Amino acid sequence: MDKICIKGGQELNGEVTVSGAKNACLALMPLSILTSKPLWIRNVPKLSDIKTMKELLISLGSDIQEQSSSSILKIHTKSISSHIAIYDVVRKMRASILVLGPLLAREGKARVSLPGGCAIGARPVDLHLFGLEKMGAKLDLKDGYINASVKGRLQGAIIEFPFASVGATENLIMAASLAKGTSILKNAAREPEIIDLCDCLISMGAKIEGMGSSKIIIQGVDSLGGTKHTAVGDRIEMGTFMLAPAVAGGKVKVKGCNPDYLTAFTEKLIQTGVSIETGKNEVTVKREKSYLSPVNVVTEPFPGFPTDLQAQMMALACLAKGKSSLEEKIFENRFMHVPELIRMGAKIEVQGGIASVTGVSHMKGAPVMATDLRASVSLILAALACEGETIVSRVYHLDRGYEDLEKKLSSCGAQITRFSEN
Ligand code: UD1
Repeated sequence: MDKICIKGGQELNGEVTVSGAKNACLALMPLSILTSKPLWIRNVPKLSDIKTMKELLISLGSDIQEQSSSSILKIHTKSISSHIAIYDVVRKMRASILVLGPLLAREGKARVSLPGGCAIGARPVDLHLFGLEKMGAKLDLKDGYINASVKGRLQGAIIEFPFASVGATENLIMAASLAKGTSILKNAAREPEIIDLCDCLISMGAKIEGMGSSKIIIQGVDSLGGTKHTAVGDRIEMGTFMLAPAVAGGKVKVKGCNPDYLTAFTEKLIQTGVSIETGKNEVTVKREKSYLSPVNVVTEPFPGFPTDLQAQMMALACLAKGKSSLEEKIFENRFMHVPELIRMGAKIEVQGGIASVTGVSHMKGAPVMATDLRASVSLILAALACEGETIVSRVYHLDRGYEDLEKKLSSCGAQITRFSEN
């Protein structure tokens, strides 16, 4: 199994370009189920989650061609050969549930394994099912599977979500695009990846208004065509790299994503005392002062502070001068990085959904274990500032969401290497 070794204490200086957004691509790829024509997606990162979605689509009948030197996928789903998303694939990645809406819309039936719990919480799919039922789907949960069917086509409906779920909003937008009549999604999620999904759908012939707001109106059409679409840059990867010079010192330019997608995060980063210069599709972060100020963060749906940057922000809070607080409001169990950061010398107490962090002046490298995607990268960030060597094990979590992480950090001067240990 691979491990990563970081020798801390190096300032970071340089430039990195973020990859296409994993979370955008995981929603864009299932769009190919909605059309018999080819769909090209550019800017697709090489990550294990993307590989899992490819496997799933191939098992449903898609033909996928990859231009190995570039980041372009051509997905062609001429016909559906199976409407079953099996447990062995779905259990690896919760986003597999995103084939449910498109399969129902195209085939009138789908059998998709329930994703079950995951490391960061129970994460049910009730909101996805609630919306599809409103559109006329008959649902039966049996033997760990969702058996869904509809007579004729799905019907447009008014769906008001009790909570703005990213995945449920995406599933329902896809289903509604091929439904009969108009659908209105209220309290919809507003994430940039949802706007990206709608932009791609519109270029396939869908009629959608209001994306980026909490009310999305979709007029169903009879069929959708193929298109060529470039996925948005990864804002979470951008935020992660912005934290690297903040934690370790130095100056790093991060390119490839619109910094406006990170306003709530950037405001908090500025409060810690680093200087930030934003450009059109880039941002430069410089650690000016020798100490960092503490910060209070509450995670929220977009445009609030993203839960996917909470663990990384905590790595910085561990080294700030004073007390910080990080409140997790999206996922109930998203503090698994805490015990590992404590092994590196951090002072953190968790009560309920709030982590109180008392900053320390130095942290020390230690053997630590990655527990989920964002938790693992927070350990890498902390390690960059630690005295001595940190060995991070179970780095397969990192490979789900960070393309070429070691290469990108090394190019800025970090001493980071991957090695295999049996
Ligand atoms: C997506 C992102 C993930 C991010 C999360 C929140 C992808 C592939 N993943 O996950 O990186 O952390 O948004 O920004 O895009 N919930 C329910 N019932 C449902 C659906 C969700 O109770 O049917 C709850 C979840 O348990 C969670 C909250 O709603 O507590 C947010 O979940 P959701 O926005 O759906 O996240 P995902 O789409 O799974």
